[in-house]
Order: sequence, then structure tokens, then C-alpha cells
Amino acid sequence: MPITWRKATRELHLHNGRLSLVLGVLENGWLGQLHFGAPLDPAASYAHLGPTDFGGFSNRIDEPIALVVPTPGSGDFRIPALVVEDAEGGSVLDLVYTGHRIVAGKPPLDGLPATYAEDPTEATTVEIDLEDAVAGLRATLTLTLFEDRPVVARSMRLTNAGPHRLTVRTAMSAAIDLPDGPWEVLGFSGAWARERHPHRAPLLPGRRSLGSLRGATGHQQDPSLFLLRPGANETAGEGFALSLVYSGNFLAEAESGPRGSSRARIGLHPEGFAWALDPGASFTTPEAVVAWSDAGIGALSDALHGLYRERLARGPWRDRPRPVLLNSWEGVYFDFDHARLVEMARAAADLGVELFVLDDGWFGERDSDTSSLGDWVVDPRKLPNGLGPLAAEVEAMGMAFGLWMEPEMVSPRSRLFTEHPDWAIGLPGRPRTEGRQQLVLDLSRPEVVDHLEATIAAILSSASIRYVKWDMNRNITEPHGGALPPDRQGEFFHRYMLGTYDLWDRLTTRFPEILWESCAGGGGRFDPGMLAYAPQAWTSDDTDAIERLAIQWGASHVYPLSSMGAHVSAVPNHQVGRITPLRTRATVAFFGVFGYELDPRALTDDERAEIRAQIAFYIEHREVFQRGRFIRLRSPFGNDDAAWMVVAPDRRTAIVAHVRILERPVPPPDRLRLRGLDPGLVYRVEQWPSADEAGVARREDHADRDAQPGSQRRGGDLLMAVGLDIEPAYPPSSAPRGDFSSRIWVLTAR
Ligand code: DGJ
Repeated sequence: MPITWRKATRELHLHNGRLSLVLGVLENGWLGQLHFGAPLDPAASYAHLGPTDFGGFSNRIDEPIALVVPTPGSGDFRIPALVVEDAEGGSVLDLVYTGHRIVAGKPPLDGLPATYAEDPTEATTVEIDLEDAVAGLRATLTLTLFEDRPVVARSMRLTNAGPHRLTVRTAMSAAIDLPDGPWEVLGFSGAWARERHPHRAPLLPGRRSLGSLRGATGHQQDPSLFLLRPGANETAGEGFALSLVYSGNFLAEAESGPRGSSRARIGLHPEGFAWALDPGASFTTPEAVVAWSDAGIGALSDALHGLYRERLARGPWRDRPRPVLLNSWEGVYFDFDHARLVEMARAAADLGVELFVLDDGWFGERDSDTSSLGDWVVDPRKLPNGLGPLAAEVEAMGMAFGLWMEPEMVSPRSRLFTEHPDWAIGLPGRPRTEGRQQLVLDLSRPEVVDHLEATIAAILSSASIRYVKWDMNRNITEPHGGALPPDRQGEFFHRYMLGTYDLWDRLTTRFPEILWESCAGGGGRFDPGMLAYAPQAWTSDDTDAIERLAIQWGASHVYPLSSMGAHVSAVPNHQVGRITPLRTRATVAFFGVFGYELDPRALTDDERAEIRAQIAFYIEHREVFQRGRFIRLRSPFGNDDAAWMVVAPDRRTAIVAHVRILERPVPPPDRLRLRGLDPGLVYRVEQWPSADEAGVARREDHADRDAQPGSQRRGGDLLMAVGLDIEPAYPPSSAPRGDFSSRIWVLTAR
């Protein structure tokens, strides 16, 4: 049993050989955190790591007691995990331990996305009850330890056990107290079209906050926070990764306290949040996942990737190979009709594409982004025969058919808005702010969720639709729940998310065979919450290969490649105007769920030949790309080159990519030290495409000048200790490859 209870010293020890979390009931009944980090002997007591003498405890102001659920107002002035206002308006809590239960497996989190155990032997959960008798509050903390994963999943259920209404003001999903410093904070921030760039800085006295108040996690901050020891790098050093399984307003925050201790917390953003808890009612926080490792940032990513790919994603598509798709958006935008789509589909099928996706513009009278969201009926001007015959034609070409939708939105110019203006979120008496000429439907209202379920289910049943891209293109303004009384408006943002999750749950349950991809103007709601319903997400609207290096590098800290949609698009790139070789666009997009987003009718013969080879290559190695271990080798940030690799679970195949962002004259010799290989195996190292295959490449692509004919044999030990010769000393380089060039090597154990 990886959770043990030491009755004599009242300690709970969560241990699985990968980490230890030791909690102790302190002398005053509070639940202390005695240790979180390296695995410790479960037979020993660690009570001495907590405060042992409570004699002077009334004088405890600012003492860095490590607590599991810190609360404000009684001497701990650091950021709290729980703030509940009682009937008198006070918010001091004295939460004392009253009992716990250890159960095999992991109970589901009602109405919220969460990680899970498929079999009770995979995880052990402890539910710990803490009570404040004065306020009449019971807080049940749930901690799950997964077998063989260095992660703990945590959430909290609050129950009003007293006679008066309580108001929850702050309810963090997780808080961790670390007795010593220094730490550094790594977060992933950006904007539309440049999401999730890593930013790392020392945790100075005070706070570092990342968060969202947009009603979605947003392009701006990922709902995660890494705490790293200074000097920790990809392969070495201690760190924690906190990641929230949620898609709405969130806060991820770290604080360095007055005596050098640190605290981190992650959960619902307290700003604007207030949840009224009437007698007998309960409130459950979203789940947070906390990973620990002393083997560097790469190991934290490994832990999150494995958990999110295998025990957060659900449904039959979790484990199925994901199809290579072609999406119509950047190819034709709103400008299509049945005949044009059929031509595109035919050209796509000829390339080897497996899934043809019709993006925005097929419904209502949607010729631009100014109308029709909410009117989920086929536009007869563009598709007079409807979706059924189109899907059938696509299927007859040997591809599956997929469709774009934006269920949560309504255009002011739409039938839905005319009929139900009150369903759009807005504050009575105030104008509604429009974003992309659209408004957000009030999914905190059950009738809106019912309507959307029925409307979307009708479309999904009307044709053979095998894939849905669920988009969400603006954030919430004038927040107000139309069906909520004034004293419950503080619940609105979270109730919106609960309604949205309910809709996702209903539709994914009704249509389990559909492959769902979430999207929010690219990566505006790419988060673990969405991954519980849609196993893949559109990583960014930016399809430029060089910007994508940065975005995918950042996103890969938390998210597995199987979750990251990555497409090759036309040049000049529509977001940044850059011209990159077709090969490099594919090199970067291979490291994700691969596809194309261009008009295949506009390709030259050479481009078609090259794309056929790219698709065949991806399909041949798709298992490795989608289920292998992703390893970051060289960061694109601040460097003029970048490299990463993916290794099959059995370590017999690996694929390495190197991108020369800016070419330099007279490049120095360079070896790329690989990782994750089997040191005892000999690998055949082949460049892809080979010199022969590269003959079909377009002339602008110089990257094949040193493609080796045939293959080399190299030991895994050598490739890791000495490296792969990417710029050999002998013979020195003679011809430049050019900016934005790239190379791929396939390593196969013999
Ligand atoms: C934003 C998405 O991110 C794009 O891929 C595309 O689907 C457009 N919306 C369509 O409006």
C-alpha cells in the first residue's frame, strides 16, 4: 500500500519509490506537511521535521510552519490555500484533522475533468477530513498517488456542516510548502500566435503570479508553474511542476516568505470568485497535479506527458494512431462551395491525407466572421446537398471527414441571437463588448447547454463525421450569469466552465467514436482540463515553422506530442510572412499530431512529391511520434539553432530533428548529444530524406548537401556521450545550408 498511516505519530506517508509526501497531524490538530520530495523510507517517522513544541504556539506569527491547507488570519501571512467567510463575515479558520480513509484507485471528480486510474491497483487515494467547528466547515482533502509515477493528484471538497451560509473566497486545488530556498519559477506565457514561451526567473522575496481572468485559461499563461532549484536543467536538478486540470480562470502563484521558505499554490483564481455554500451544500475544487523530480525539467515533463497521455485523455482515441489531416482553413478560409471542397479533397487524397477537415464557414450565412455563430445548420448556398453527401464523397476517396464548430459562441447577426438575446452573456443595462464580432453564450444556464447538445448532436448525426474541431474564439466580458441571483454572481465563471464541461461530457459520451480536437484561436484554451475530453488540441494559429519551434518547445514542458496539433502551411506564412522550406515546415510539424493546412490544389508537382514522402514518413513513424518519449535537446530561445528528438518506448527507434534557424559562415564543428537511447545498442543512423529521396526536394532547400548516402552504425553510448556529428570537423562544411534549413535522422537499433 503506497499510502501508510503511522498511528503512533499520526503521520500519513505517500510513497511509491519515486517520491514521498509525508503529512503529520500536528500537536494542535493542524495538518502539517513534513516532507515533499525525494523518496524516504516508509518505515521511519518524520515527525521531527514538523514543529514539535507547541508550547509557545500562541506566539507563532510568521513562523514558517509547513501546512497542507494554509488559511489566513491566525499568524501565517503567506498566500493561503483556503479562505472561507463565515456568517459573521470573518475568515479565520482553525482546521483540525478529524479522520481519513485510504482507498484503492481514484474516485472520479463529479462534473470536473480529472486524471483517473483504470484499475484500482494503479493508484491509491487518501481522503483526509479537516474541520472547523466554529465555522461549521468540513474540508476533505483528496490526494492520489499513482503507482510508478512521480506525481500526486490533489483536490478538495468543502462541505457546510453548520447552520449558516458560508462563502468560499479562495479554494486552491493544491498548495505546497517548501522549507528552504532558493527556488526559481518557470512558467509558460505569450499571446495569440506565440503561446507558451518559457520564462524562468528567481523567486525573489514576494510573489510571482501567473493566471487568467478571461473565462478561459488563455493564450497568455499556461495553467502550470514549475519550481526549480537554481541550476536545474533538462537532465539534472530538483524541481516541482504544478499543473491544473482546468480550463477557466486560474491562479498559479509562488511566494518566498520572510524566513526564506517558499509556498506555491494553484487553483481557481480568487479574484471575482465567491461561492455561496448553504448548509449541507458541498463545493469541489478542480484537480491539480504535482510532479516532483531531482532529474531535471525533462523528468518533470516525462511525468506529466505519461499521466496526461495515458490517464487524463479518455475514450477510444486515447490510444489510437491519430490520422494525418488536411484542414481547409488557411487554404480557402470562408471561400468554398461543394465543388471546390471536393477538388481539395481529391488533391488531399492524392497526397496520402487520411482525414479531410472542413473548417469555419459551412453554416448559416457565414462568409466572414461577422455572422451566423449559433446557427448550426448547413448553408445551402455553399453546400446544397448538405454535409452527408460531402462526407460520403470524401470517404469514397479513402479519407475520413471532419468538421469545425464553435459551440459556445453566438453572432449578434444570427437567428439564435434574435430568438434568445438573453442567452448571450452580458450585464443588464450595459452594452456588451464584442470580440471577433461575436458574443459568448451563457453556459451557466442548463437550458443553453441542453439546446447546444441537441443542435450539435443533430449535425453530428446528419453525416459521417469522424472528427470535430471545437473552437472558442473570444474571452468573456461583462461576466454575468443570467439565471444566477445577485448573491451568486461570484460563481459565474466557474459555473460557465461546469456547463462547458457538461456539454463536452454529453457530446463525447454520445459520440465516442469521434476524434475531438479542442481549439481556442489556437492555444487559447490548451490545458489539461480540455485534454480530458479532447485528446488533441490546436497548439497555435501560428503555423510558421520557426515560431512553432518556440511554441511547441514551450508547450512540450507540460503536454505530450499526442496532444499537440501541428500543421504544414503555405508560404509566405500567413501569420508572420516568413518563407521557410517545405522540409522544415514538416520537420517541425512531425513533432506533434501532423497535418496540413493549405490548398492542395495550389501545389507544384515537386511539392506534391515531397508532401507524399512526408506523409508516408510520418505514418511509418507515427507510433514513435505520438507515443514516444519527447526529449528537448537545444532550445530555440536565444540560439540560432534548435534540436529535439523522440524515442520509442522500447528505445529501438529514435528520430532526431535539428533546425538551423540562422545560417552562419564557417560553422564550427558541432555534435548533438542525444539522450534516452539504450547505451548498449548499436543504432543504424540514417538521414531522412536520404540523398536519393532528397532529389525530389525543391531547389530552395539546401538541407541535403551533406545527406549521407547509406547509413552509419553508432553505439547508443557514443551518440549520448559524444554526440551525433551535425557539423563534422572533417571534412569542414563547404556550402551553406541557408536560413531555416533542417535535418532529420532516424536511428534504428539493429
Ligand atoms: C481560429 C482557429 O484557431 C483557426 O484554426 C480557425 O479554425 C478559425 N478560428 C476559424 O474561424
